[in-house]
Amino acid sequence: PIIYCITPTYWRYVQKAELTQISQTLKLVPNIHWIVIEDAKEKSDLVRNLIEESHLIATHLVAQTAPVEKSKDKNPKVKRHRGVEQRNTGLKWLRDNLVPGKHKGVVYFMDDDNTYSIKLFEEIAKVKRVGVWPVGLVGGLNVEMPIVDENTGKVTGYKSGWLPNRPFAIDMAGFAINLDLILTKKDANFSYQMAKGMQESEFLSYFTTKEELEPLADLCTKVYVWHTRTETPKISGTIPNIEV
Ligand code: UGA
Ligand code: MN
Repeated sequence: PIIYCITPTYWRYVQKAELTQISQTLKLVPNIHWIVIEDAKEKSDLVRNLIEESHLIATHLVAQTAPVEKSKDKNPKVKRHRGVEQRNTGLKWLRDNLVPGKHKGVVYFMDDDNTYSIKLFEEIAKVKRVGVWPVGLVGGLNVEMPIVDENTGKVTGYKSGWLPNRPFAIDMAGFAINLDLILTKKDANFSYQMAKGMQESEFLSYFTTKEELEPLADLCTKVYVWHTRTETPKISGTIPNIEV
């Protein structure tokens, strides 16, 4: 199967470093199709050149995050989620360009700033419907993970420092979904209406139940992805036109 990795990205000083890191990880993995969606008005030379030089099979798209009318909205549930329009644009590309039953694959939401072991992609390749695994450094814990019943091999709950009773207490980096499911459940998308921390739960609810999840990475005992966040560098001067 092809692993379709959907990566939202936006300009900041560390963007090129982040994209270099993840694109070079993907170079070590077979059968990758990298879908990069820029949060921008138009495609940038920086991202275009980086994708081209990577020689990965890739699709380059744009989707600018709409300016949110924050002050008008008193509903605290309406929070500024990140990557919403970009991931939806990636999903739309899959649905517009691939044919259920004909194209075989797995879809993974691969944020540009996390740290991914190449072992993760061996697990993703095993996904039948919806696979899950631990994610390091997230949800207030060193590792957030599904709890797996040793006897049944089924997910019974989650260890999460934050709302462990969510239907799916899983970070965006902690699951992947069969391409056929993505292509046939056409109305499964992300939205700003989803409450804080509920994006993953609400999205996964379109496709599966807790009982049906496939616990990967040795029944969720191994960590192959970390929710790292790069410190914003203090830049006091810039040399123009070099980092493109
Ligand atoms: C957490 C989750 O791990 C994300 O998957 C989730 O989208 C996010 O919370 C959320 O608030 O909705 P976090 O590290 O806080 O992650 O988010 P970022 O890594 O800053 O952003 C997630 C993705 O969206 C990244 O690939 C980033 O490049 C992209 N992004 C972020 C944009 O495209 N535009 C932005 O303005 C900000
Ligand atoms: Mn992040």
